[in-house]
Amino acid sequence: MARRRIIAGNWKMNKTPSEAVALCNELKDLVKNDDVDVVYCVPAIDIVPVAEAVKGTNVHVGAENFYIEDKGAFTGEISAPMLKEAGVEYVIIGHSERRDIFGENDILINQKVKKAFASGLTPIMCCGESLALRKAGTYKEWIARQIKWDLTDITADQVKTLVIAYEPIWAIGTGETATADQAEEVCKMIREIIADLYDQATADAVRIQYGGSMNAGNAAELLSKPNIDGGLIGGASLKPDFGQIVNA
Ligand code: PGA
Repeated sequence: MARRRIIAGNWKMNKTPSEAVALCNELKDLVKNDDVDVVYCVPAIDIVPVAEAVKGTNVHVGAENFYIEDKGAFTGEISAPMLKEAGVEYVIIGHSERRDIFGENDILINQKVKKAFASGLTPIMCCGESLALRKAGTYKEWIARQIKWDLTDITADQVKTLVIAYEPIWAIGTGETATADQAEEVCKMIREIIADLYDQATADAVRIQYGGSMNAGNAAELLSKPNIDGGLIGGASLKPDFGQIVNA
């Protein structure tokens, strides 16, 4: 089954609003590709100017985080209705930096996945193992558990539109990429888990990205694998290289 490729930039805590607009303009011609979904997941304060800057192009806007309530006394948080009104279509949920630095657990991540779907946002739901788990050889069990927890009470029809990002923590921002075979092994396993939890049609539809030091040099090989449908790109999404990844 042909799945549409999705290449998403995760800008993390980079780019002021004016820098964000400048980057959109720099990338505009480089990321043109009608066969790929291109997404910029940007800091909350950049969402409005980025949505304006990419208007009329093939680029979709994503958020890096949100909270599960629509409004109220949640100092510092941003809600799904706020994101929707600003033109956001995708939201990263469960990134390892949110888990490790900000203490997000799989219960909250599952609540966020539910809330995103209920709000008409497409989750880019992240999973991945630490170096210790990779070395211990227990990474597959770990990832399987993350997926099961994070998808609790999510329906097959919802999962068909979901994006899952496999991001081995040891490859994030380190310059060390999983080999294409290592990435494919886990992405294939994730699809099998979805087939077990739901059915084959759902597993065939869900899009699975690899993330972790993906760059202009290694993207084509990673993306050539049958179970890797795209990438979640940090460092290289802030440079013209991102265009090469989109067109890899
Ligand atoms: P990286 O980050 O491409 O800089 O390794 C990927 C991510 O954390 O999404």
